[in-house]
Amino acid sequence: MRLSHRAQVIQESAIRKLDAFVARAPEVHFYKLNIGQPDVPTPEPVLRALGATDSPVLAYGPASGLPACREAAAAFHARTSPGLGAEHCVVTQGGSEALLFAFCALCDPGDEILVPEPYYTNYNGFATVAAAKVVPVRTRLDDGFRIPSNAELDKYVTDKTRIFLFANPGNPTGAVYGEADLRRVAEWAKSRGLWVVADEVYRHIWFTHAPMSALELQGHEDHVIVVDSTSKTFSACGLRIGFLLSRNLRFMERIERLGQARLGAQPRAQNAAIAALHLPDAFYDELRATYRARVDAMMDALAQIPGVAYHRPEGAFYTMARLPVKDTEDFARFLVTEFRDTSSGRPESLVVAPGPGFYADPSEGRDEIRLAAVKHPDEVRRGIEVLGRALANYRG
Ligand SMILES: Cc1ncc(COP(=O)(O)O)c(C=O)c1O
Repeated sequence: MRLSHRAQVIQESAIRKLDAFVARAPEVHFYKLNIGQPDVPTPEPVLRALGATDSPVLAYGPASGLPACREAAAAFHARTSPGLGAEHCVVTQGGSEALLFAFCALCDPGDEILVPEPYYTNYNGFATVAAAKVVPVRTRLDDGFRIPSNAELDKYVTDKTRIFLFANPGNPTGAVYGEADLRRVAEWAKSRGLWVVADEVYRHIWFTHAPMSALELQGHEDHVIVVDSTSKTFSACGLRIGFLLSRNLRFMERIERLGQARLGAQPRAQNAAIAALHLPDAFYDELRATYRARVDAMMDALAQIPGVAYHRPEGAFYTMARLPVKDTEDFARFLVTEFRDTSSGRPESLVVAPGPGFYADPSEGRDEIRLAAVKHPDEVRRGIEVLGRALANYRG
């Protein structure tokens, strides 16, 4: 029996590829710096709201989300982007579904989505489902992954280009685009008739300056779309609640139709999201302090390893590091299958995400890995120390 082209070409998650090897070595302690799954406890009020119920039936909710949840998310964004109301916000099943909906609403089969590369690997999967194509715009570790000039961007535009997509702060780069970058790119996209999709799921995790939301850009109301999520901000990856926001009501009305086709996001999870959106400002200060300590530990430990280049993240909790090896896929496999550091008295190794998974062409990024500072600083520090020992032992 024949499977669709889509099912045949959809990419395997580069980040999870190594899990099977890890499962086969239960005696080894692995420092899992490969996935963006923080171990920070989900705030109490969120857990409480998730458990609470006043109905004997787990009923469907509205397609675009519970009105109270849409209002809470819109009010949250309106603190920095005035004028937003519930009509500008749809509740989705994670930022993932928000991205998928945006691609489906904006792209016809074969249409192209420009995205600064390296980029979040699941953009490929969403694009495949939407029958669209990701077109990478190369950015570089050595200049902090800045977005190229307008003249350079122009080289990537075809009559199929529909979207300029970016994550701010970036995954896997940790780069934060400032106000000048955002305005420049939005102006450029507008002049080329492109939608801007800003993936802001890490917006509240920053270390130098608060990233501006694309929703704040005046004069761009009609072509800007923002993706948000409760996953990272509230350490609630399993809640599966995200948001799609835009001031373009014609777009939002079509998203309502897409939502109708899959029925609404889980109402109890939305109640938990409402509790999250009402957390006090002190919560965000603590969030940033937590990740600053983890990222600092990652930077300090990387600085001890000879021959490694990396970018200090301005936001999110990742870094792309360039290693003195030729093939990080092979090195990552060596870590999970062969290398065991016993200096602490138990066998230890680590799991990293190989660079090629973050590039459209997997022959790129072969000397890079992505590290996620998602664990306690001591774990992060020790994990990277093990990385240093592994590099010294690797003969790839
Ligand atoms: C840049 C980026 N966007 C979107 C997502 C999807 O997040 P979720 O579907 O959990 O909200 C992730 C998850 O890691 C991400 O890193």
